[in-house]
Amino acid sequence: MQERLLELKEEALAKVEAAANLKELNDIRVAYLGKKGPITEVLRGMGKLSAEERPKMGALVNEVREQITEKLTAKQELLEKEEVERKLASETIDVTLPGRPVNVGGPHPLTKVIEEIEDLFLGMGYSIAEGPEVEKDYYNFEALNLPKDHPARDMQDSFYITEDILLRTQTSPVQARTMEKHEGKGPVKIICPGKVYRRDNDDATHSHQFTQIEGLVVDENIRMSDLKGTLNTFAKKMFGDDREIRLRPSFFPFTEPSVEMDISCFKCGGDGCNVCKKTGWIEILGAGMVHPNVLEMSGFDSKKYTGFAFGMGPERIAMLKYGIDDIRHLYTNDNRFIKQFNRA
Ligand code: PHE
Repeated sequence: MQERLLELKEEALAKVEAAANLKELNDIRVAYLGKKGPITEVLRGMGKLSAEERPKMGALVNEVREQITEKLTAKQELLEKEEVERKLASETIDVTLPGRPVNVGGPHPLTKVIEEIEDLFLGMGYSIAEGPEVEKDYYNFEALNLPKDHPARDMQDSFYITEDILLRTQTSPVQARTMEKHEGKGPVKIICPGKVYRRDNDDATHSHQFTQIEGLVVDENIRMSDLKGTLNTFAKKMFGDDREIRLRPSFFPFTEPSVEMDISCFKCGGDGCNVCKKTGWIEILGAGMVHPNVLEMSGFDSKKYTGFAFGMGPERIAMLKYGIDDIRHLYTNDNRFIKQFNRA
């Protein structure tokens, strides 16, 4: 019996020594020390021993179990340590590896221009107004002194939804809406950036959808010189301090008199080049003094109040400013195009 025990001990210790992982080690523990294991078996046979031999044998069994347990514990610690080391080694981070580039977006050139213009007018005390893109014929045309069948409606080909509702062709309806809200009391001083729609065939300079920024000031004693001063400040801040402006007579049904504003060419300074088409001047926007009919229709007393309005196209300004040769670049979402403005 004693021999069998010592044999078992050697066998178990050798196996523990050879165990390659924690699972094997646990199997050995169960096999040798478990209830069905050979050592328990030996204990069961102790009843047959004499009273003298029994305590000796008991002590020996305990000793063998202790030795095996000790060895198991030591081996377990070793294997656990090895495992942690292996894990650490496999998870090592090479801090010298170059990082993967993160694809960060950038502001769209049109957004940049619109925000620049907004900032500029906010700095002059204007607030920003908005209006619906699906608009009533009344605000888009009638309230702007363009009754039904007025020939000037043909200046802007429209997308009608019903007879009385259309996609707005200009941001000017926000003029009428804003004045209505003021209920005949000045001052009104707003700009309105927004999308507009026209039934145009898309090409390098036309898009069926584009943006406009409208401006409107109504108060007592607003004069043409106020308009001129405002546009002059705008032109210099937007296109450079040495820009000059020129106002040409024009026609819009909702302003009287109406003008178009040119700036002296920022590329050649007025000598004539490809940007200004050899004229030295670049057309930037339409403007004028608010027509008395428009003031009256929106609830303002045209004897007491006067005002000026202007409207411009941020696409055109962005194209001029950044030398973009096709308006469609602004709308086709080609990242190679947009990326060029990230750092600009
Ligand atoms: N709404 C006009 C257009 O789209 C521009 C404009 C606005 C002209 C305000 C005068 C005053 O052509």
